[in-house]
Amino acid sequence: MIIPLRSATGTPRSAKRLPGRDLFLFAEKCLTSTDLNEKLTLTRQAKALDDRGRLEHDGGRAPAQPIAMVRFPERPVTVDPRELPRRKLTTPDGRAALLHALAHIEFTAIHLAWDLLYRFRGLPDEFYRDWLAVAAEEALHFELLRGRLRELGCDYGDLPSHRGLWDVAEDTAGDVAARLALVPRCMEARSLDVTPGMIAKFEQIGDEPSAAILRRILHDEIRHVALGSRWFQWVCQEHGTAPEDSYFELLDRYLRTEVRGPYNRELRLTAGFTAAELDRLEGIGN
Ligand SMILES: [Fe+2]
Ligand SMILES: [Fe+2]
Repeated sequence: MIIPLRSATGTPRSAKRLPGRDLFLFAEKCLTSTDLNEKLTLTRQAKALDDRGRLEHDGGRAPAQPIAMVRFPERPVTVDPRELPRRKLTTPDGRAALLHALAHIEFTAIHLAWDLLYRFRGLPDEFYRDWLAVAAEEALHFELLRGRLRELGCDYGDLPSHRGLWDVAEDTAGDVAARLALVPRCMEARSLDVTPGMIAKFEQIGDEPSAAILRRILHDEIRHVALGSRWFQWVCQEHGTAPEDSYFELLDRYLRTEVRGPYNRELRLTAGFTAAELDRLEGIGN
């Protein structure tokens, strides 16, 4: 008789589909889980394995599941952006609302990074390493903001949020160039424009812990956008398309809202935007 091995909780091990060392199983498990803490743990575990060279990302054994398989925790509830609480920093409720909104962006960003590496197969090994590192940094950003929220007597999930960022992921699920143009090179790039002003506001109200978290986030986001630029150029080269024209065509085709400035030229140039791209953005977005 074969006695099945049991884990500490009494569940037969074979019944639990562990990701082992397969990057794509980690991605799938993280994206389909509804448990916030499990998502964070899986992200940390995958990055630690990859750092030790023990994660396999050889293109994936099974094809990616449709993006509709992605799940989020029950809380926060999602509402229309117009129903979100106001974010006036000078009141405690407003400060909590802003930090909650930022935590939600970071939490969604974990999924954006995982989905980018999960969905698009057959790319160089470095692509997968780069976006796993981004997923791990987004998880860190989320945890820093959640910690700060807790210090202020609030927690992630206590307030409603909206799903705007995820709509973009769904719209671009079939096109890696569109995903790179719209997510790192548009949504994330926007954070380079607005975060310095938010840091200054937190400093003005004397909230140094929140300002310090945002400084750390801004530092990392410059690199995330730069990776988006780098891989966007790589994909354009593979497809034989001109990066600048492709970028604007993709924005035109997929963007649901208007492109808006003002743009932080210095940070965007550091993050791989060209001066010509910025001139063109300013021409349509100011
Ligand atoms: Fe982030
Ligand atoms: Fe990011």
